[in-house]
Parts: sequence; C-alpha cells; structure tokens
Amino acid sequence: MTLSISFAKQEKKGADTIAVGIFEKGKLSKAAQFLNDSQRNCIKKCLKNHPNFKGKNGDMLSLAHCGDNHGHIVLFGLGKSASKKSDLNTTSFENIGGKLFDALKKSGSQSVNIQLDGIEGDKNTTAADIASHLALGLKLKSYNFDKYKTIKSDDKPTQLGKVNIVTAAHSKAKTLFKTQDAVSEGVFFARNLVNEPPNELHPESYAKLIEKELKPLGVEVEILDEKKMTKMGFKALLSVGQGSIRESRAVIMRWNGAKTKIKKNAKNPIAFVGKGVTFDTGGISLKPGAGMDLMKMDMGGSAAVVGLMKAIAGRKAKANVIGIVGLVENMPSDRAYRPGDIIGSLSGKTIEVLNTDAEGRLVLADALTYVQDTYKPGVVIDLATLTGAIMVALGAEYCGTFVNDNKLWDQLKSASENTGEKFWRMPLDAAYRKEVESEVADLKNLGNSSYGGACTAAGFLEHFVKDSTKWAHIDIAGTAWWNSEKATTPKGGTGFPVRALNDLIAQHYEKK
Ligand code: BES
Ligand code: ZN
Ligand code: ZN
Repeated sequence: MTLSISFAKQEKKGADTIAVGIFEKGKLSKAAQFLNDSQRNCIKKCLKNHPNFKGKNGDMLSLAHCGDNHGHIVLFGLGKSASKKSDLNTTSFENIGGKLFDALKKSGSQSVNIQLDGIEGDKNTTAADIASHLALGLKLKSYNFDKYKTIKSDDKPTQLGKVNIVTAAHSKAKTLFKTQDAVSEGVFFARNLVNEPPNELHPESYAKLIEKELKPLGVEVEILDEKKMTKMGFKALLSVGQGSIRESRAVIMRWNGAKTKIKKNAKNPIAFVGKGVTFDTGGISLKPGAGMDLMKMDMGGSAAVVGLMKAIAGRKAKANVIGIVGLVENMPSDRAYRPGDIIGSLSGKTIEVLNTDAEGRLVLADALTYVQDTYKPGVVIDLATLTGAIMVALGAEYCGTFVNDNKLWDQLKSASENTGEKFWRMPLDAAYRKEVESEVADLKNLGNSSYGGACTAAGFLEHFVKDSTKWAHIDIAGTAWWNSEKATTPKGGTGFPVRALNDLIAQHYEKK
C-alpha cells in the first residue's frame, strides 16, 4: 500500500488518529484548539504520567484511546516554547515527519489527521513549506523493500494508508508537495536499485530496467552493449567486467527539458556519471568473505544518477541533463583481469592494474572520457562508492566531495544544506595525481601507500578530466547504504544524494 497524502483546510472525517504538535514544557500548539475538552484533559493527565516526554524537537508520544471519542492521539515535539522565535527549518520538519511516520505506524494507526495550523518555522520557512516538508518526511520514511518476501507487510490489515495534513496553506502545500513527491519517487527508485540482490540486478538486467522505468517518462535511453563498447574502445571498463559471465553495459540517459535539445558534439550544460559495479568481489584481488554481501551496493553511484534522472523527468525539470552509468560485475574467474595487467582505456591512456579491487576508477575513467568527448558538458559530476578510505575519513554522515571549481563547490554545498544530505569538501592536488603515475604504463590504479586512498582515487580520476571541464567527484561509499535507520531514511539503500543533485539542477541549471 502506498501512503496517500492529502492537504486540506479541515480534518477528514473517519480518521482513527489525530496528531498534534507540542512544545517543550507541555505547551500544546495552537492546533490543539481543534481538540475537544476531554482530549485536552486526557493529554494533560498523560503528560504527567510520561515525565520522560519533554516535547523536544522530534520527541513522539502516542496516546491510545484518548478522550471521549476513544481515538488515538500522537503528540509530536516541536522544541523550544511557543513564545520564542522558531528555529525550525524545512529539514527539521522533514525529520519530524519521518519520526511521526514511525510513531503512527507503531501506534497501529491506519488514517490520521495531522494538525499544523499555528505551527511556525524560522523566517525562511512558510506554512506551506512546513506542511509540504513534513509530508515529504513522512513519505521518505514510508519506503520499504519487501518484494522478495512471500508475505508483504502491505498484506497486514493495520497499515498506515491515509494521511491528511490540516493547514490553512493547503493549496500551496499541495503544489509544493507535487514536485517533492516526484523527487521522492526518484529517491525510491535509487533505493530499490541498491537493495536489489546481485543475482537479480546485473549489468544486463539493470540496463533493461533503466529503459523500462525512464523511457515512459520521456527520458531518452541509449544502451551500449559489449560489442559496441569493444568497437568504441571502452578498454578499461570492459577489463573490469571480463571476469563475469554477465555482459557489461553502459547506459546513457538524456532528459531534454530545456527549449533546445541535447546534441552530440555540441556544448551541453551538465552531465552525471555513475559507478555501477553490480557486485564487487574484488576480482582476483578477492575481498574477505565477511560482509561481502554488502558489495551489492557498489552500484550506488549509478543508482543516484538513475534516480536523479527519474526525479527530474518526474517533475518535468526545464533543464537539459545527461546521465551515464558504467555497469559491470567484478568477478574472479579464468578470464578475469589480473593484478599486473596493463590495460588500455577509451582516452588512449594505458593503466597498470595493481589491484583488481580498485575497479571503480577504471569504469569511471571510460565513462568520463565518453561523456566529455560526446557531449562537451560544461559541468561533470561523478558519483561512486569508490573507496573504503572515505568511510575511514568521514564515516556514514558525510560524503567526500572533490571539486576543481569553487563556484561549483558553493552550488553543491548550498544544495546539500537545502536537503540535509551532507557534503564535505576534500582536496585535489598535483601530488595525488603524481602518485598514480606508473613506471611501466601511463597510470596505475593504486597509490603508493595505504594512506589517503580516497584522495589518490580522486587524483586518478582527474587524469581523465579535461582542463575545461568543471568537475566534481562525490565518493558515497559511506552514505549509499546505512546499517541503521535515520529520521527520513530506513536501513539499507539510502538514495543519497538524489535530492541534493535535484536541488542543484533546480537552483542553477534550470530556466525558471
Ligand atoms: N567498492 C569498493 C569501495 C567500498 C568499500 C564501497 C566499502 C563501499 C563500502 C572499491 O571498489 C574498493 O574495493 N576499493 C578499495 C580500493 C583499494 C584496493 C585501493 C578499498 O577501498 O579498499
Ligand atoms: Zn573494489
Ligand atoms: Zn567497488
């Protein structure tokens, strides 16, 4: 069952639950005027009985059979007292929405009225923003991946199905949410792709799925198979995939939302490149067995690109955007590439392979070359679960962002702040580029030491970026998959950072 979210001036009849905001020190929001006396008395009593509930931002308290009409009441904390100026922004309301979803689910609610009238945000956050972002938080947290379970959670009778958000700004909120809803579908698609098991999602099936999902939305999808890529010279990408029985693929996606169409061999504004290793065993440089199952998420960069294309097509962005993903499976076998091999690349540069587990940069190298040669984009942004080293540096909170242009960094940073997907700037340096020069080939796929692995990987990629290209490399190894849930993100594939990339396009690459 997908969550149905509506916005209205008044409560919908027949709902089993009402959700109301509450500030610290037990002061109910103005919306509590919609409660009856017996409900208000019940809340007062219950607050005394639950001294641990302080009404802090994000706290939730569920009261069963409260007041005369025996309905559920869920109180959601809004933090500081109502008399002070609010510091709640759009991200705060998304997080409240996500936590409220969990509380409603736990309380067994099937339909709810959420009262928002009288709740204020900070000076940039309007009533319509509050309602639409709270709805977005609810929606993002409602995601679940149970397609491989024989009994779906949707089959259970007690499933939260209907949410009605009560606000005076209902019509503006509805308009805003329509766009956010389309973006969240892109996030869900990215999460689905990452959560798919690697026996089902391999390069061939993945390419077909992209076509099936994006073509009906008006995205042009071009698939390059092994025969075509061999002819064109994708030697680095094909080397990584040659150990697998599954054929490799590259998929190019074009969204023509601007007045003039995307053309080959003409200048185009922006392109996104994604690492799509559908399973990374490490190849002949085999990874340890423990935790290897997680390497199904090594296509997280490509999922972000594909999810982004779905988001911008779904909301009909007035921008021209190109996406390309390199899809391979990195397997050990008698025909796999080996440590010691010297391979070619689409750029013509030769590469000494020192570790077949540093495969992502080889896939990206050819995809970067192809997209720059073919579409001459002013800006290229690549996304990849590229290194364990970025996780050592930043953990699961921030992705590492390597950018060769300050203005592009400013744009990425503000997009990241708008959506709460955290980006941290990391260094590009001639010394890192030098470190991946080989004595026997042009480049090698490893740095000299085990330190700074995320930076030498970025340095390797920089060898495939033209001087005139504004470029960002975003290492999402720590953020594409989360082992524990967050306010608006369930465990598993996160869809990070589809929303920030969508925001980047909306703010800077779109005709308004
Ligand atoms: N896919 C991995 C990176 C990774 C690690 C992603 C953990 C997500 C979680 C990548 O292909 C890899 O194996 N990188 C090696 C590079 C090393 C051999 C230079 C790594 O980070 O250890
Ligand atoms: Zn690897
Ligand atoms: Zn990998």
